[in-house]
Amino acid sequence: MSGMIGDTMYVLLSCAISLDGYLDDNSGERLVLSNAADLDRVDAERAGVDAILVGAGTVRNDNPRLSVRSPARRAAREAAGKPATPLKVVLSNGELPADAAFRADGDTLVTNGSVEDVLGQLTARGVERLMVEGGGRVLTGFLASGRVDELQLVIAPFFVGDSAAPRFVHDGRFPWSKDHRATLAAVAPIGNVVLHRYLLSESAVDDHWLARAVGLSRRCPPSMTAFSVGAVVVDAAGEEIAWGYSRETDDTVHAEESALAKLADDDPRLAGATIYSSMEPCGTRRSRPRPCARLILDAGIPRVVFAYREPSTFVVGDGAEQLAGAGVTVVERPELADEVREVNRRQLASPGQ
Ligand SMILES: NC(=O)c1ccc[n+]([C@@H]2O[C@H](COP(=O)([O-])OP(=O)(O)OC[C@H]3O[C@@H](n4cnc5c(N)ncnc54)[C@H](OP(=O)(O)O)[C@@H]3O)[C@@H](O)[C@H]2O)c1
Ligand SMILES: [Zn+2]
Repeated sequence: MSGMIGDTMYVLLSCAISLDGYLDDNSGERLVLSNAADLDRVDAERAGVDAILVGAGTVRNDNPRLSVRSPARRAAREAAGKPATPLKVVLSNGELPADAAFRADGDTLVTNGSVEDVLGQLTARGVERLMVEGGGRVLTGFLASGRVDELQLVIAPFFVGDSAAPRFVHDGRFPWSKDHRATLAAVAPIGNVVLHRYLLSESAVDDHWLARAVGLSRRCPPSMTAFSVGAVVVDAAGEEIAWGYSRETDDTVHAEESALAKLADDDPRLAGATIYSSMEPCGTRRSRPRPCARLILDAGIPRVVFAYREPSTFVVGDGAEQLAGAGVTVVERPELADEVREVNRRQLASPGQ
């Protein structure tokens, strides 16, 4: 939520490693770790970004083109008013070969500076989504900067077995530790390699859990007199500890209430937890003595994230104000609000009922 330059850019790191964590062998030529299906997946990811960034080491060793390959994807980008292939960015303090393959197709930028500086330069050029493809020095710098939203890590089923080969990451101080883990969003086998998608930034993690809460809201038994809401409680280490949805256990139970009922009042994880709700927690309630905002305060949960502010259809919605007033961090992420509205379209179409 801060206003730092580049803060709104989505930064995606993508790379493939061997089972023993190397990005390449030590031969001086490019080692292909991935398979054809995964390279096509990477091509699709490239087609979805505004810029692709690598370090000078990768250009000197691999001489990559860094282009979108698929003619259909290039045509689709052009039809959307974009260049056929994203801006190619190379971080370098020195000379790069004049005939380097990345120069052949599309716009290029050879630059330097800190991660924050480079993100600022790219923001100024209109880049909203950046894909960082390596190599080890650049990956280490980006990961240690804390400015990465997502890591797509592919593991290939073989060993390099040579400590002189380039490692995935070098020594560094990374924002993720055993007590503050990254969020595993997906794991997928692609032929004989495995793709792991990790979410690293607070906003990417929040959107992931909010999407899960919205998914739960679709399980609510239908009602014309109450909203359909989903809720998830996630502990400080990033592990889901409870979930619930409206009318899950009786006709009037709310999502947050149902999730919290699955945890003991004195569960020590509550003190570091975040509760995600598809809608703003209610501040007043007809059917129960304690509204959800009160239940969250009584549970001692310090952080609340929701997607859609409750309209005053059934009761006046001031849950967010009550929570914030009591010192809880309240984050509204309206990115998923349209989906919440869609889940509740019937209730929202009959105001005052
Ligand atoms: N498996 C994969 O997915 C994958 C992907 C990409 C690369 N790789 C492998 O990674 C290896 C290369 O890794 P690497 O660690 O040697 O090199 P690298 O990370 O690609 O590049 C490092 C170089 O980039 C320049 N640089 C980095 N950050 C900079 C900054 N902020 N400002 C200015 N310059 C900056 C510096 O070059 P100068 O100071 O010399 O200009 C630095 O030495 C290759 O073997 C390649 O095959 C593998
Ligand atoms: Zn409620």
